[in-house]
Amino acid sequence: MSIQRTAVIGSGLMGAGIAEVLAKSGLDVIVREINDEASAAGRARIEKSLARAVEKGKLDAQARDEAMGRLRFTTDIGELADRQLVIEAASENEAIKKSIFAELDTVVTDPDAIIASNTSSMPIIRFAQSTSRPERVLGVHFFNPAPVQPLVEIVSSVLTADSVRDSVTEFVAEVLGKNPIQAQDRPGFIVNALLIPYLCSAIRMLEAGFATKEDIDAGMVGGCAHPMGPIKLADMVGLDTCLYAAESIYRETGDPAAKPPVLLSRMVDGGLLGVKSGRGFYEY
Ligand code: 3HC
Repeated sequence: MSIQRTAVIGSGLMGAGIAEVLAKSGLDVIVREINDEASAAGRARIEKSLARAVEKGKLDAQARDEAMGRLRFTTDIGELADRQLVIEAASENEAIKKSIFAELDTVVTDPDAIIASNTSSMPIIRFAQSTSRPERVLGVHFFNPAPVQPLVEIVSSVLTADSVRDSVTEFVAEVLGKNPIQAQDRPGFIVNALLIPYLCSAIRMLEAGFATKEDIDAGMVGGCAHPMGPIKLADMVGLDTCLYAAESIYRETGDPAAKPPVLLSRMVDGGLLGVKSGRGFYEY
């Protein structure tokens, strides 16, 4: 199947980045949001990133305009009927995601369509079981910022068909130009199983007064050649996303390293979500 007609559910940090990647790859993209305000914010996010790509010399103005021309925003999920690939990138709430999968199952008419989730750590099988076609559901997990990070985790549940896994892997590599890796449907898959305990440890270090956030970040940038330190990275990922991922990994594995630090919970309760809200551990 040659995938041309795609859709992304949600245009937050990840949804907007994924929609941009799909549009830049020449695909027709519908972005579904819950209201016009959220659609406008998603569109602005994509425009800003495309402008930055032009500024950085990664894209010319014509390619930017063509990419924007391939994007259509809607609040009506019914418009996704003819889609061949839908990537769900709603917020990390299992109940919301399950209901989106159930809705997509009734709306998307093509029996060969593939329905994917960009969840950072939740069990893919639970979303698959919310549909009547679990063999056509899998995880396609991008990294933030999606237009820049080359990796995509392909996550097969115990019911994902091998043919679906293979065609999505090929699509990610050949059409999107990303580097796919194969992960099992386990908490945090590969990357977040390693990353989330690391981010939680850094926040615990800060919470305990062990070191300043600047020194923790400088330590990992200067000492280990990471492009950014863990406190700044947590702000960029979104503290709410970090919290939900940590809760989900901790709930299933009991790994004390993934236990969400109290400070992280308090900050999320306080609306301090990082870059996206203008303030997290740092101000933006
Ligand atoms: N579009 C296209 N390319 C862009 C771009 C854009 N909007 N913005 C930047 N770039 C390109 C630049 O041209 C540059 O390319 P080059 O290396 O070929 O010259 C490269 O991206 C880096 O850009 P900069 O050096 O200007 O650095 P920035 O400050 O713009 O961006 C960063 C920095 C890319 C965010 C870098 O700090 C980084 O990689 N940080 C770590 C990010 C990370 O770890 N992400 C994973 C998070 S975990 C996750 O997402 C999973 C989730 O489930 C929790």
